[in-house]
Amino acid sequence: MTLIAKTAWVLVIVTLIIGIALGYGISLPEKQALQQQLQELKQVSEQFLPLQDTVKKLRQENQQLKEKINELQEKLSPKYVEKIKARGKLILGTSADWPPFEYVNEKGQIVGIDIEIAKRIAKELGVELEIKDMKFAALIEALKNGLVDIVLADMTPTPQREQTVDFSIPYYFSKGNALITLKGKEIRSIDELKGKKVGVQLGTIQEEWAQENLKDIVTIVSYDKVYPDMVMVLKRGDVDAIIVGDIMGSVLVKRDPELAIAIYVGGEQIGAAVAMPQGAEDLKFVVNKVIDELMTSGEIKKIFEEEIAKWLGIG
Ligand code: ARG
Repeated sequence: MTLIAKTAWVLVIVTLIIGIALGYGISLPEKQALQQQLQELKQVSEQFLPLQDTVKKLRQENQQLKEKINELQEKLSPKYVEKIKARGKLILGTSADWPPFEYVNEKGQIVGIDIEIAKRIAKELGVELEIKDMKFAALIEALKNGLVDIVLADMTPTPQREQTVDFSIPYYFSKGNALITLKGKEIRSIDELKGKKVGVQLGTIQEEWAQENLKDIVTIVSYDKVYPDMVMVLKRGDVDAIIVGDIMGSVLVKRDPELAIAIYVGGEQIGAAVAMPQGAEDLKFVVNKVIDELMTSGEIKKIFEEEIAKWLGIG
């Protein structure tokens, strides 16, 4: 080996040793510091990861809320009220066969509790009231087809009806259905009805109750109109009993001594509310306001008393 080669070797080895020594000595603390920083960064980013998810979720929720608000605004837009006001009249659908709620008086006018409430609603809207009389069973369809704006027919809000129409707050509570018979032919229990014929109005909760509870023991006959039709068939003896609402039952027997309330069936429940098309939020707002005022002021009670008295011929 030449001297130059030897020297070169020595130089290489020395450089390596110094390099390693230097490398070790200098980089170790730096490396540690870097590693620590890296660790900290990792921890920080780990903290942010779930936050990112939260931000994403919040964004989604925000979007959903915006859509909901739009939907509600759309619903609240005064399309029903505007239409009624532009037309200048509120069209009421009813089944004028159910005193004292709605019936045809001696003068041929449709009057009663529901008509009085409807008049208040029309007044609040600043329009005239137009009444469309039809069979009870046709009312919901008329509402859905836009043939009428509201329905007041002592209509009970039931879950089934609520699937297709909206209801206001209730304006009357019922103690049940009255089973009416001829006086002297009273029935004291459901058992005594066995084998008899019972009349109900088509599409009513009375019909539903009879179908559910009496189907196997009596013959159920459904009619379109209650008063005077169903009362006539009872008097004629075509049926042994008819089932009507509690108030109607009590005024019927008060006015007609041939009739008697045999028993109450079906139990207490919400009696009636105003039915409106589904989504008619603006109209519902006005209707609820009127009913709420009638209830809190006590005027509703006066309407009931006055209309009952009128039907009985003492008002
Ligand atoms: N409340 C019962 C119902 O909603 C009967 C109403 C009958 N009303 C009438 N106007 N005939 O089914």
